[in-house]
Amino acid sequence: MIDVGQFVVEKMTPAEINEVRQIETASFSTQWPSDAFYNELHSNRSAHYFVGKVDGKTVDYGGIWVVMEDSHVTTIAVDREHRGRKYGDILLGHLIAEAISRGAAWMTLEVRESNAVAQNLYRKYGFATVTVRKAYYSDNNENALVMWAGDLRGELYRNRLNAMHG
Ligand SMILES: CC(C)(COP(=O)(O)OP(=O)(O)OC[C@H]1O[C@@H](n2cnc3c(N)ncnc32)[C@H](O)[C@@H]1OP(=O)(O)O)[C@@H](O)C(=O)NCCC(=O)NCCS
Repeated sequence: MIDVGQFVVEKMTPAEINEVRQIETASFSTQWPSDAFYNELHSNRSAHYFVGKVDGKTVDYGGIWVVMEDSHVTTIAVDREHRGRKYGDILLGHLIAEAISRGAAWMTLEVRESNAVAQNLYRKYGFATVTVRKAYYSDNNENALVMWAGDLRGELYRNRLNAMHG
């Protein structure tokens, strides 16, 4: 039994953007443009962003794009002090469930080749590496692994999610 305390996942609103950007700054070597989250929330109908909160404080965030059967994890990060407590795991599960509920049949994402922690998380959810994008990250020319999970609406995948979350 995983004790996740008072952790709750909610839709992201503009009120959380400042906290989200603090987590982003502490988590990634490059940041999105300052208006990117606002634009995603207001102007991108394919975009769906969520935050995880503990006692009202934002401790993680993540987003997806869903277009027809295709979905993509655009970002996910957990506040450093709150890592290793299943918050990233639960949030990714939520993003996948949201994508499935909106008709997605598969999901892709990019992850730095050196980011073993995130790759472990993605593999837990059935993602596998399908290709490598050479020098995808311009800050250090690091390669990106493109990971993919398919047949999200199939019985096998549903069983996988049920086995993880009961
Ligand atoms: C990747 C990240 C979101 C994981 O979130 P988290 O809340 O710390 O992870 P969780 O506690 O939910 O753990 C989920 C899984 O991640 C993996 N994981 C987590 N911490 C790990 C560690 N220290 N070493 C190896 N694997 C680890 C494991 O597979 C774990 O599942 P398990 O506990 O059943 O083994 C978080 O580390 C983070 O924000 N990293 C910086 C931003 C980032 O890299 N985002 C992804 C960009 S592609």
